Amino acid sequence: MSTLSQISLNSSYMKKETSTKLTEKLKIQALKELESAQDLDMLQDWRINYLGRKGKITQILRGLSDLSPADRRQAGSVANETRKILESSLDAKEKDIRQTQLLTQIEQEQIDVTLPGLPSPTGKLHIITQTLREICAVFSSMGFEIAEGPEVELDRYNFEMLNIPKEHPARDMWNTLWVDSQNDIGNESMLLRTHTSPMQARIMEKKTPPIRVVVPGKCYRYEATDATHEWHFHQVEGLVIDKGITFANLKSTLYEFVKIMFGQERKIRFRCDYFPFVEPGVDMSIDCFKCNGTGCRVCSETGWIEIMGAGIVHPNVLESVGYDPEGISGFAFGMGPERIAMLKHGIEDIRHFYSNNLRFLNQF
Ligand code: PHE
Repeated sequence: MSTLSQISLNSSYMKKETSTKLTEKLKIQALKELESAQDLDMLQDWRINYLGRKGKITQILRGLSDLSPADRRQAGSVANETRKILESSLDAKEKDIRQTQLLTQIEQEQIDVTLPGLPSPTGKLHIITQTLREICAVFSSMGFEIAEGPEVELDRYNFEMLNIPKEHPARDMWNTLWVDSQNDIGNESMLLRTHTSPMQARIMEKKTPPIRVVVPGKCYRYEATDATHEWHFHQVEGLVIDKGITFANLKSTLYEFVKIMFGQERKIRFRCDYFPFVEPGVDMSIDCFKCNGTGCRVCSETGWIEIMGAGIVHPNVLESVGYDPEGISGFAFGMGPERIAMLKHGIEDIRHFYSNNLRFLNQF
């Protein structure tokens, strides 16, 4: 409690001198307090204390009625004068505080334009998309077109037109996800395509040779997943159809692809394999780019890495799309970009690709 507040302000015996003296003391005290006020809340308290309805100056003004008219005038004018001074000091102080607050705020919010900016995260293409595009770009440079087809496919294209009739044991080569066939296309069975080969039939059906096309796309199989098997994955299909296409064309085209994709020094190897829609059918390997064929972990100590299936398009397939196998021939191939990316980047588990782990994906 200040000394001033202990002085009784509403003494009915107050004399002019007492009142004037009190006002003077009050003024000094008030201005001192005002000086030390630091924020608008303190100013508000100060205002109520001195200039409010029950404030000290107000009380002095009220007490003037006890004085004689002459004294009242003089003491009154001192008190009024003091009130004006306090009011204008309050205004000035308020301006001052607001100004300081503004400056602090500006200082806090100041932006140093010379600081290096925060890097904003940018998206990038998934490693499989990059691999698909890389493969397609190689074939594109050799004059191939690029086409895409449906992922939900008719039995006809996925199997039948590819020389795999119903009930044929070759169907067991593909673990198929069938789709409820209550559809408006009739009663034909539908499935999630097990490979991109159905696009061979679709493209031949629509086009007349010559055909040179690659088909990147997603495939699905009813598969238990492990380090080398996913139930959904990608393939890039290739098809070349023209008069007089032979196995030599297949070899030279795929050899060219391998050299661009895996290095000019690569060798290729063909071994017989069975796919119902090609005859002869092969699997193609490249010599291991890691150990150059001497044997290592990447090539399972064999020196060779299998990268695709291929072959000469079966006459039954050509017939199923209305081509004359006597006059026209071609070759087809199919490869898995997941496997190619795994080999190229030393990835050990195919499941990494679709686990949405950014720490894995950001590496590529
Ligand atoms: N479609 C075959 C598969 O999924 C690969 C292939 C394509 C083989 C074209 C030969 C010719 O295994």
